[in-house]
Amino acid sequence: MCPPEHFTVEYAINPWMDITVPVDAALAVKQWDLLRNTLVDLGHTVHVLEPVAGLPDMVYAANGAFSVDGTVYGARFRYPQRADEAGAHRAFYTRSAWTYKTPEHVNEGEGDFTYLPGAHGGVILAGYGFRTEPAAHAEAQEMLGRPVVSLRLVDPAYYHLDTALAALDDHNVTYYPDAFSPASQRVLAQLFPDAVLADRVDAEAFGLNLVSDGRHVILNTEATAMGAKVRAAGYHPVHVELTELKRGGGSVKCAVAELRR
Ligand code: ARG
Repeated sequence: MCPPEHFTVEYAINPWMDITVPVDAALAVKQWDLLRNTLVDLGHTVHVLEPVAGLPDMVYAANGAFSVDGTVYGARFRYPQRADEAGAHRAFYTRSAWTYKTPEHVNEGEGDFTYLPGAHGGVILAGYGFRTEPAAHAEAQEMLGRPVVSLRLVDPAYYHLDTALAALDDHNVTYYPDAFSPASQRVLAQLFPDAVLADRVDAEAFGLNLVSDGRHVILNTEATAMGAKVRAAGYHPVHVELTELKRGGGSVKCAVAELRR
């Protein structure tokens, strides 16, 4: 995670970002602290990446890389405003002895990649259409040695995979079908017949942008209907308030890069 010390909305690269509405930076830090403490209280270890002035989106740490079993597929950002974030993440991984692979193709890390170790022998789900290049999906498969299933995103409001789909545990997912092309919806239905299906209200509340440890599902306070859905599916929803991060087009998952050793 990376604290939102330098967080602002000074450019608009997704439909949620409005440069005319000021961000409450102090509130953003307070809300971020609560998210970090929530994860720590649930027993997780949180490493903190040093924020860099001039990189206001660095708080969305999920976009900096994607790791599977100790190997890290690095990010290469779509927009120049975020390009320098990749190096900060690379420095973290190389410092702590991960195998870091530098990408050739544009991809935004866990924004567009997720991994389900217990589904189909270990499968990577990958989104494209707005940020990550389809060529990066093949590159990730080569670098990580896991099958990658390409899913096409079709709604600009859900520009990253992690705004439209989340792993609930090692083998199941929740997703908002309309964010995907009809063919990709069929692929998801085939691979995950027991998925928890979300609707437009859940997606608009950033309810899909969640982090789950397989038991606890951490999601923002606005996503009340989504909380009820995951509870009905047998998980424990834990809500945290993240109103300021939503102004940049993100929520819980965007703020957390998962480290898969
Ligand atoms: N403002 C950031 C962008 O548009 C938000 C990134 C959200 N992160 C995520 N993992 N979906 O790039």
